[in-house]
Amino acid sequence: MAGALRVAVVGVGQRGLQHVESIAKLQADEEVQLVALADPFEENLAEAKVQSIATSYKQGSTQLFTNVDEMIDTAKPDAVWFVMPPNQHRGEIERTVAKGVAIFAEKPQSLFYDEIKSQADAIDKAGVPSIVGFQKRYDPWYTAIHDYMADKQLASAMAVSLSSVEGHSAKHTPTERQGGPANRVWTANRAWSGTSMVEAGIHQTDQIRYWVSDDVKWVQAAYVERPEDLQESQGDNPTAYTVVYGFKRGGIANVIFTKPARSYFNDKYEYVHTPDAHIAFEDDLVVYSYQGADYPPASRPTREQLRTVLAAGPESNPMGSESTLDISRQFARSITESDPSLRRNSFRSSMNSLAAVLAANVSDSLGGIRIDIDEFENSDKFAEYRQRPEGL
Ligand SMILES: NC(=O)c1ccc[n+]([C@@H]2O[C@H](COP(=O)([O-])OP(=O)(O)OC[C@H]3O[C@@H](n4cnc5c(N)ncnc54)[C@H](O)[C@@H]3O)[C@@H](O)[C@H]2O)c1
Repeated sequence: MAGALRVAVVGVGQRGLQHVESIAKLQADEEVQLVALADPFEENLAEAKVQSIATSYKQGSTQLFTNVDEMIDTAKPDAVWFVMPPNQHRGEIERTVAKGVAIFAEKPQSLFYDEIKSQADAIDKAGVPSIVGFQKRYDPWYTAIHDYMADKQLASAMAVSLSSVEGHSAKHTPTERQGGPANRVWTANRAWSGTSMVEAGIHQTDQIRYWVSDDVKWVQAAYVERPEDLQESQGDNPTAYTVVYGFKRGGIANVIFTKPARSYFNDKYEYVHTPDAHIAFEDDLVVYSYQGADYPPASRPTREQLRTVLAAGPESNPMGSESTLDISRQFARSITESDPSLRRNSFRSSMNSLAAVLAANVSDSLGGIRIDIDEFENSDKFAEYRQRPEGL
């Protein structure tokens, strides 16, 4: 195993276990060595518990720690996957990168923009490689859209995510011991998740940025609050979200999220269009656009004349285990092969996705006003929204 990248995972919960599974596979391919796991709650480090989800994991020489700083000093990893709840960061990323360690940060990197700035500044100062866990950037269909749109202008894009309040027993942080929700479903809790738009809608926000290689310039949002009498059992996050983004190079996008309880329903609907074309998610990923020199043609073109396959079906799950494995594989290789082009984002470049969803919350709370992202990030007017609230 000499020469393999020495990696560690901090936070061995729902997502951390998926990363442990990917890393165990990469270890079998001798691409990495899993030198340590860290989690403040010892029960989450037990081999049998880890193996119940990460079936390829064997503890072997992997060291276990309940303290991140001790783990960095003792196990001396080259790269750390940070997979802890986003409101629980207390400078761990800053201290880790100061020791020259590369960072894979799960989204959302934090819930407080001031802390994200501090993390990004520390990463840039240390000059270490970084990536944020937007695995959709490693999905073949989404990459085909990214490539197709490279020389085109966005008119509009849509990402509708129809889902439900998160299930019980999925989460591993004992929030009941930390002043959080009694049922551990912290993703349904506003103080822990920052709303579902921050916790989950950040994926749709980032995917559209990836599709069009652009940054969000402004946001307007309207949410529907969950009825108060349902909040004890369903959490206090809104039940519906509508967010509109404007992009720097033009074009708009809609991100729509539904979060009813009891429905256990999941579906999605997505499209992108340019002034001359419509990209549709069908059995294949296709673009509809008439390319004849005689535009407008004398009669309506046939479907065959309009339709070009951008990527063959069936569509894989862009959130699934394949893209999750690939983002970790490419991150590890980007370091061992000194090839930054394998990283499809960096901590710094991902800040726009986080600023956009945090500013969406602010827009909704101020009655749906349009918020300029640059102002959200820098103006005194929004300073109070960038800070960790007292007592949290
Ligand atoms: N990219 C994705 O598709 C995806 C999917 C799920 C979750 N996530 C993200 O991963 C992160 C973790 O979410 P999760 O679903 O695994 O939650 P979880 O509660 O299941 O697991 C979090 C783990 O972190 C540990 N932890 C808690 N406080 C910690 C601290 N101070 N230091 C170190 N570890 C700590 C917990 O004990 C637990 O094992 C979140 O940011 C979440 O948004 C990303």
